[in-house]
Amino acid sequence: MSGPIAPLVVLGATGSIGGQALEVAERLGIEVAGVAARRGSEELATIAAEHPQALVAVAAPTGDEQEVFADRFGGRVRFGPESLVELSTQAGVTVLNGVVGAAGLPATLAALEAGNRLALANKESLVMAGPIVMAARQRGGAELIPVDSEHSALYQCLVGEPHRSVRRLVLTASGGPFWGRDRRELEAITPEEALAHPTWSMGPRITIDSATLVNKGLEVIEAHHLFGLPYERIEVVVHPQSIVHSLVEFVDGSLKAHLGEPDMRIPIQYALTHPERAPGPLEPFVLAGRRLTFSAPDLAAFPSLELAFEAGRLGGSAPAVFNAADEVAVRAFLEGRLGFLGMASILEETVAAVAWAEIRTLADVLEADREARAVARGLLGGSC
Ligand SMILES: NC(=O)c1ccc[n+]([C@@H]2O[C@H](COP(=O)([O-])OP(=O)(O)OC[C@H]3O[C@@H](n4cnc5c(N)ncnc54)[C@H](OP(=O)(O)O)[C@@H]3O)[C@@H](O)[C@H]2O)c1
Repeated sequence: MSGPIAPLVVLGATGSIGGQALEVAERLGIEVAGVAARRGSEELATIAAEHPQALVAVAAPTGDEQEVFADRFGGRVRFGPESLVELSTQAGVTVLNGVVGAAGLPATLAALEAGNRLALANKESLVMAGPIVMAARQRGGAELIPVDSEHSALYQCLVGEPHRSVRRLVLTASGGPFWGRDRRELEAITPEEALAHPTWSMGPRITIDSATLVNKGLEVIEAHHLFGLPYERIEVVVHPQSIVHSLVEFVDGSLKAHLGEPDMRIPIQYALTHPERAPGPLEPFVLAGRRLTFSAPDLAAFPSLELAFEAGRLGGSAPAVFNAADEVAVRAFLEGRLGFLGMASILEETVAAVAWAEIRTLADVLEADREARAVARGLLGGSC
């Protein structure tokens, strides 16, 4: 590296992405300027103690947690959802947004408006509010580097290529643990089975979303906004080995692919070191003996992927409604109140029931999110 890497703020520090980001920071000697999570857990307290210079944000502490954290960390701790924004707008930091769900959006916007580099794992930000996020990036003149492995792959394939040269983007999907099963077999899937992903170790929501292909649908919407291509030029292909992370096809018929072990530390690190690269943690990749297979997604068994494309094409509030309905449906599934296939029904019915609206401001997005959650909960019998 030619110079030091900017100090890092890790939002969602107790999560799968956040933990790996802290590991990358330690290995590369990057200063940690802030850590944030939802709860004032022991895990967050341990992380805060390991980084005595970092500000600490706790978005939704209990009364007891607030007392303990205030006692232990004094003037460097902040409470409430807006504390993530405060951490993200410190001058000259890189913000790694690894919060799960809609709660990550305000900090995404704040980091970009402040002109800070945003390493974005929180895909919900772009799904819910793509045009607003991209406008904030433009205004702040900030760098937005995706962390999602597919988007990092596409980003890397596109370096140095003019937009007019791109024919289409191809996102790869592992297919999740139930690839190859038909609808009848999917009916009885339990949360425990769905939480066991074959290639990636991730937080619970994204693991369930990978099993239903909702995650791939969210990624299609994310790619549409990040790379400015219409939905008919974005494709999904199932690639169970998760070695090819995504591909770009160019107008001359060339394809560029990004390959590597499925390990999120690699795209996290790239988002922090771009445009340079630093040595990574993995052994050299062995190609000999690898088998790479690709097939079309089974949209009858996994209808949520097509529903996501439809929500994306509808635009406006539809993607935010789709995302909120999914957050409610996944929670109900994990709590045993909804079957595996029921999740797609909740998505379809919620998107159909909530009136389409223009999205111009963050308030519009949050209103669509609120309404969708209320509708989805109503469909579930008002029980969550
Ligand atoms: N995991 C992956 O491999 C992967 C890959 C690509 C993209 N992503 C994306 O990265 C994001 C994080 O995924 P993950 O798998 O790391 O999730 P995760 O393991 O469930 O961690 C979520 C993190 O977000 C925090 N959080 C939750 N609600 C919050 C709130 N209201 N305010 C502030 N912080 C909050 C959690 O804090 P508490 O611990 O206190 O609840 C936790 O630190 C998601 O958008 C996901 O789609 C993940």
